Amino acid sequence: MSEKTPVLEVKDLGIDFGGLTAVNEFNLQVFNGEIVGLIGPNGAGKTTVFNMLTKVYKPTRGTITFMGQDTAKMSVVDMNKAGIARTFQNIRLFSNLSVIDNVKIGMHNKISYSNIDAVFRLPKYRAQEALVEEKAMEILDIFELADQAEVIAGNLPYGAQRRLEIARALATEPKLLLLDEPAAGMNPQETEELMSMIRFVRDHFKIAVLLIEHDMKLVMGICERITVLNYGMMLAEGTPAEIQANPQVIKAYLGE
Ligand SMILES: Nc1ncnc2c1ncn2[C@@H]1O[C@H](COP(=O)(O)OP(=O)(O)O)[C@@H](O)[C@H]1O
Ligand SMILES: [Mg+2]
Repeated sequence: MSEKTPVLEVKDLGIDFGGLTAVNEFNLQVFNGEIVGLIGPNGAGKTTVFNMLTKVYKPTRGTITFMGQDTAKMSVVDMNKAGIARTFQNIRLFSNLSVIDNVKIGMHNKISYSNIDAVFRLPKYRAQEALVEEKAMEILDIFELADQAEVIAGNLPYGAQRRLEIARALATEPKLLLLDEPAAGMNPQETEELMSMIRFVRDHFKIAVLLIEHDMKLVMGICERITVLNYGMMLAEGTPAEIQANPQVIKAYLGE
């Protein structure tokens, strides 16, 4: 893969549910290190695009190329192993487990000790466990959750649960992180902090981020490029300045 190859390339993507076309002719390129925004009114098809990118839904039309590889035959698990991780619009955590265990579960597919190693607590197991612990704490630290590592996830305040969702997704060491309305329900100060965390994560782990968000301050503040969806169709794409000045976007979305 050359430097110019996008991490993600989507061509003419579409999906029908029964007779209803939810998304059609959707095109997108995301390059390494970019933060790209996906915005649009409720019901526009944003989450459906994420569900196709992660193979929760099988697209009816079009292609998804990830790291230069056609993903047509890949499953949800394959996509995660290949390097796509996501968060959900409605928080999905293991709410009965501790904060750190939620992150460690995300790291599971990276561990290479055998059951024998684990049962007898052989050096390989102990060394790997120490590494897993250290890595999990590093991620929790970024999201200001390190001192709550042993707290049961379900007992965290709402904003912290949203941050833990991102931490858990990052534990799989993705190349592309998909965030579905990460600032939903957060107050302005929490949103501000989240913005700098997302930027830090992009710089520190050198990954690409595709972000669905309604908070325009967040979107315009951290995205290098933005795509606007409306009724399942692309309405516009461009820089934040171009999007904010686009009459069609203002009419359909920003002006509402
Ligand atoms: N599994 C499904 N079955 C039928 N319709 C669906 C399904 N998933 C999404 N849709 C429809 O697709 C459209 C886009 O939904 P969604 O992607 O959730 O919008 P957004 O995230 O932009 O608010 C909506 O009309 C929704 O009802
Ligand atoms: Mg949605």
